[in-house]
Amino acid sequence: MKVLVVGNGGREHALAWKLLQSEQVEQVVCVPGNGGTAKMASCQNLPLAVDDFAGISQYALANDISLVVVGPEVPLARGITDYLQAQGLMVFGPVKAGAQIEASKAWAKALMQEAGIPTAKAAVFTEAAAAKSYIKAQGVPIVVKADGLAAGKGVTVATTREQAESAIDAIFQGQFGSAGEFVVIEECLIGQEVSVLALTDGLTIRPLLPAQDHKRIGEGDTGDNTGGMGAYCPAPIATPELMARVQTEVLEKAIATLRNKGIDYRGVLYAGLMITPEGNFQVLEFNCRFGDPETQVILPLLATPLIDLILACVQQRLAELPPIDWHSGAAATVVAASGGYPGDYQKGKVITGIDAAAAAGVTVFHAGTNLNDQQQVVTDGGRVLNVTGTGENFPQAIAQAYTGLHFIQFEGIYYRRDIGYKVLSTKC
Ligand code: AMP
Ligand code: GLY
Repeated sequence: MKVLVVGNGGREHALAWKLLQSEQVEQVVCVPGNGGTAKMASCQNLPLAVDDFAGISQYALANDISLVVVGPEVPLARGITDYLQAQGLMVFGPVKAGAQIEASKAWAKALMQEAGIPTAKAAVFTEAAAAKSYIKAQGVPIVVKADGLAAGKGVTVATTREQAESAIDAIFQGQFGSAGEFVVIEECLIGQEVSVLALTDGLTIRPLLPAQDHKRIGEGDTGDNTGGMGAYCPAPIATPELMARVQTEVLEKAIATLRNKGIDYRGVLYAGLMITPEGNFQVLEFNCRFGDPETQVILPLLATPLIDLILACVQQRLAELPPIDWHSGAAATVVAASGGYPGDYQKGKVITGIDAAAAAGVTVFHAGTNLNDQQQVVTDGGRVLNVTGTGENFPQAIAQAYTGLHFIQFEGIYYRRDIGYKVLSTKC
């Protein structure tokens, strides 16, 4: 099979890498891909935008592409699956109606309430004055969310009323474009966040191993929010008992409710959970795609061929598959970022040491990289590389990731030294 992967992050490099481990997959084309997918054997990049549906469709039809796997949320929310399916292509990723579960927080909240899924108390507003008086009545801390896709920047956890009010003003003044037509104001939950990514064919839903990511730029989980500075899997806080509850109280309810709405949701359903100190959980958000960087630690542990799972989802026969098989042990990834990220940073810095790191046992997934005219790998984004270690336990996996990272250099490199600090003492 030839598979086309849409996207250019570490997640898409990991998807392409894992797909190519399946015997059935002879070639992967990444649209547009990055420096890592350009260099990987049996993989090539196609320089089209992820929302160039017509271009992707023409290429896929002319080049015997059997399957399209969509990484990011933006093309899903714009209907890439509907478009490509209408051209006769097989696509992994939900249709536009299903992608609303990520693309509209108000829609997702209503779905959770309808389904009886545990989630924070919330109210939706269409104008600032009413939103502000609600905040005055509720008090702080409180969470203010732009309704639509905002590249991870639409949520403010406000500890003062002034913060909450300026977040509301920013949203209604159009800082997030059409994502700011509604605002969702939500009770602030305390606890640890866990990402449960599940695969579904619209009828059956199966969770992957739970993962945790580090969202903040600074050590000790301090400073600005980022797209994720590291991750590890399996997250010990998501015990088997908790995962069994997530299956029945979240995943199955979500899929049944989507089906009741006439939405045939096939792809990844990602539940972002807050685990409270008492061991209960509530859903913070749903995403309609694989998590980044969670995918970079989940896929190295997956023993069942990824292509088998994806085809079973697309062809609606997930119930027929045996349980998903996993390698034992743990995986951890550390993100090497450009100096200045998540603020301004420079691009085009030559990266050295990737091969030496790989020889030391890590898997280096590229995120913001590209090739320059001399075919050298150069930085091309804020989060540059995901250096992933595996081992029998967290101490081994984390140590391997950092050993690999020591070989890698580029001007301004920044990474957190404390990835996985909460689980370093955990045996798994
Ligand atoms: P979301 O896109 O809704 O997941 O929000 C992004 C991030 O904001 C989450 O990963 C949490 O860190 C934080 N967050 C969202 N909702 C809440 C909440 N109700 N209470 C506390 N933190 C939240
Ligand atoms: N790691 C968070 C996300 O993928 O949304």
